[in-house]
Amino acid sequence: MNNPTHVAIIMDGNGRWAKKRMMPRTFGHKKGSENLRKLSFYIFDQGVKVLSAFCFSTENFKRPQEEVDFLMNLFVEKFYQEFEEYKKKNIKVVFSGRRENLRSDVLDAMDKITEETKDNDRAILNLCLNYGGQYEVIDAMKKVISSGQNIDCLTPEEFMHFFYQDLPPIDFLIRTSGENRLSNFMLYQASYAEIYFPEVHFPDFDEKEFDKALDIYHKRDRRFGSIKEK
Ligand code: IPE
Ligand code: IPE
Ligand code: MG
Repeated sequence: MNNPTHVAIIMDGNGRWAKKRMMPRTFGHKKGSENLRKLSFYIFDQGVKVLSAFCFSTENFKRPQEEVDFLMNLFVEKFYQEFEEYKKKNIKVVFSGRRENLRSDVLDAMDKITEETKDNDRAILNLCLNYGGQYEVIDAMKKVISSGQNIDCLTPEEFMHFFYQDLPPIDFLIRTSGENRLSNFMLYQASYAEIYFPEVHFPDFDEKEFDKALDIYHKRDRRFGSIKEK
């Protein structure tokens, strides 16, 4: 089996990682964001074409305001700091999620990294920010209706073109930190994804852990409903 085309990561456990070190949760978020930068380049070096990373869910707005503010500030800082590196490495950065409820400086930083990397074609980093899988389906439905497309003949594959980003389905979904749930992440796109729940917290999910994950992926038997391996 080939390496996956689309890998998705639910980057969970930043808070617990920090707590274990007697540090504030925000320290874990900082470490997690540094890890994503490094790990994303490694993952693209393995031939993966799309990496979707869950950065902030629509439900994460329920967290204390200081933590939400810290995360939003971190996003702004990172997008301005990192756009040149993504640009140089020919990685296109895109976003999935609702723009409403996001601060204007966050939207500006998102627009900056999107604009700077829009012509890149080696791979795609899809950052899911203010993202909820259920909202994505609702928002896609609205787009279908306003496009005038005949819903009676809409196929599941065609429906995916109406999502926030037009991406292939997820082959391999990883959620770090031992929680066995999707927490509203890409429910539709993960229909036939192989799913892996490592115990390690996201800041410790490094290149070695990804290699381990890939080995596990290669041992899986993807059948897509048929009786033979595809
Ligand atoms: C994931 O880590 C990052 C975000 C949700 C923004 P958490 O903050 O959920 O860390 P834990 O799960 O509380 O350890
Ligand atoms: C999912 O993690 C969201 C992100 C990783 C960005 P959460 O920590 O928010 O999920 P729950 O609350 O444990 O389900
Ligand atoms: Mg969590």
